[in-house]
Amino acid sequence: MSCVAITGKTYVEEPLQCHNISVVKNKDFHLVQVKGTWKRKTGNNCNKNLKGQVSDAKIYESTTEQGTSWTVVSPIIFTYKVIETLGLLDPSNDTLLLGHIRDPQQQEALRSSISSKPLRRFVVMDQTVYNLYGCQLTDYFEARNVLYRILPLPTTEENKSMELVMKIVEEVHKFSLDRRTEPIIAIGGGVCLDIVGLAASLYRRRTPYIRVPTTLLSYVDASVGAKTGVNFANCKNKLGGYIPPVAAFLDRSFIQTVSRRHISNGLAEMLKMALMKHRGLFELLETHGQFLLDSKFQSDSGLQGDNKDAASVSTRVAIETMIEELAPNLWEDDLDRLVDFGHLISPELEMKVLPSLLHGEAVNIDMSYMVYVARERGLMTEEEKLRIIGCMVGLELPVWHQDVTLALVQHSLCERLKHSAGLVRMPLPIGLGHAEIFNDTGDESLYRAFEKWCDELRPQ
Ligand SMILES: NC(=O)c1ccc[n+]([C@@H]2O[C@H](COP(=O)([O-])OP(=O)(O)OC[C@H]3O[C@@H](n4cnc5c(N)ncnc54)[C@H](O)[C@@H]3O)[C@@H](O)[C@H]2O)c1
Ligand SMILES: [Zn+2]
Repeated sequence: MSCVAITGKTYVEEPLQCHNISVVKNKDFHLVQVKGTWKRKTGNNCNKNLKGQVSDAKIYESTTEQGTSWTVVSPIIFTYKVIETLGLLDPSNDTLLLGHIRDPQQQEALRSSISSKPLRRFVVMDQTVYNLYGCQLTDYFEARNVLYRILPLPTTEENKSMELVMKIVEEVHKFSLDRRTEPIIAIGGGVCLDIVGLAASLYRRRTPYIRVPTTLLSYVDASVGAKTGVNFANCKNKLGGYIPPVAAFLDRSFIQTVSRRHISNGLAEMLKMALMKHRGLFELLETHGQFLLDSKFQSDSGLQGDNKDAASVSTRVAIETMIEELAPNLWEDDLDRLVDFGHLISPELEMKVLPSLLHGEAVNIDMSYMVYVARERGLMTEEEKLRIIGCMVGLELPVWHQDVTLALVQHSLCERLKHSAGLVRMPLPIGLGHAEIFNDTGDESLYRAFEKWCDELRPQ
């Protein structure tokens, strides 16, 4: 069992400036808790001199001729756990019930009180996943003396809307959930996890929730970050937030029932991390991609040498590299994001041909074209380019699509400019396993790369 705790932090750094108004007086305050109340205190060396708990929050007071203003800096820290485990629904495994609790003593106390004082859990499950694993979950709860309500829902991309969010919060309300001790559990693919995350973050302003991903894509991507959301006004994930779960419990055995196409779909997001950050992961996918598809990430054998388990090594590296990029930028304030590779043209393409391409497939087509752009810019050799395309084909992912036209490329990049503060911020691979963000790819390079991409990859 491996476990990672992630902490994200976000706050306003600078006090507000009042332009054209002469400032009469500025004061900076720390906050100290004395006998149960918080007091403002001035002084630079505050931590040493003050008795009582000192908050990380600050108040900047500015008095001008027009009056006084206060700038409040209130740091918010998110801490969540990502736990890989096998046999999550085995009654001897208590991760599902207690894995989110960080204090070992509290965990132990709950463990010993379960038989006399049952825990309560509300679970939302993707309908398909419920049909496959619902009985196992029921048996688990019965064996662990849990009072439970399972809500199976058709959490498909077409239904990814506020209607399902409302349905969930109504049922949660009927269950009269205690938000301090009873996290909502979501079990399903990325759609289910996103919808439940949004419902939980709305109910009583922020009810803790747990993610249990059951597809490869949600295992390596949707489960480890903070984003929640539903589609709105015909746009993907237009409503949502950045509220992470208290924990994500990852069990690869769910993937055994996922279709081969959906496994390729998840492999696209893993390949993205490999190309951006990890040559070893690329080589693993290049060598063992077919094995991973055939074994559905289940077998722990079939490999020689050090890589005894391609499934566990590749998912672990994909998760670690993803967490490295997400943790310091949980709210995506920094717009230069390597994880956006494959996501510049693909949103436009995905919406245009909906539902014929899955998300990962559209991402891969985008990455394939961008590899040609990188080659055109001299960022990789011809051999490296061919290896990447060969790896994509080996993972049974599409590398070309007739709906990607030069007009679509240019339109997508214009949209990107609009939403990325005037810079295109194009992540491009440099060789294998490294990347940088570029803002200077000219039309000429885009055009020549496009011609070559079509010449070489368009089916005859
Ligand atoms: N929050 C994030 O950071 C984030 C990241 C990536 C993707 N997403 C979102 O995730 C969604 C895509 O996720 P997805 O690919 O998991 O799609 P999905 O949730 O639609 O699941 C794909 C299909 O697999 C079925 N399924 C799920 N688990 C199964 C299992 N164990 N066995 C058999 N069938 C199973 C589902 O019923 C569905 O038909 C998109 O809506 C995307 O926006 C979110
Ligand atoms: Zn994606």
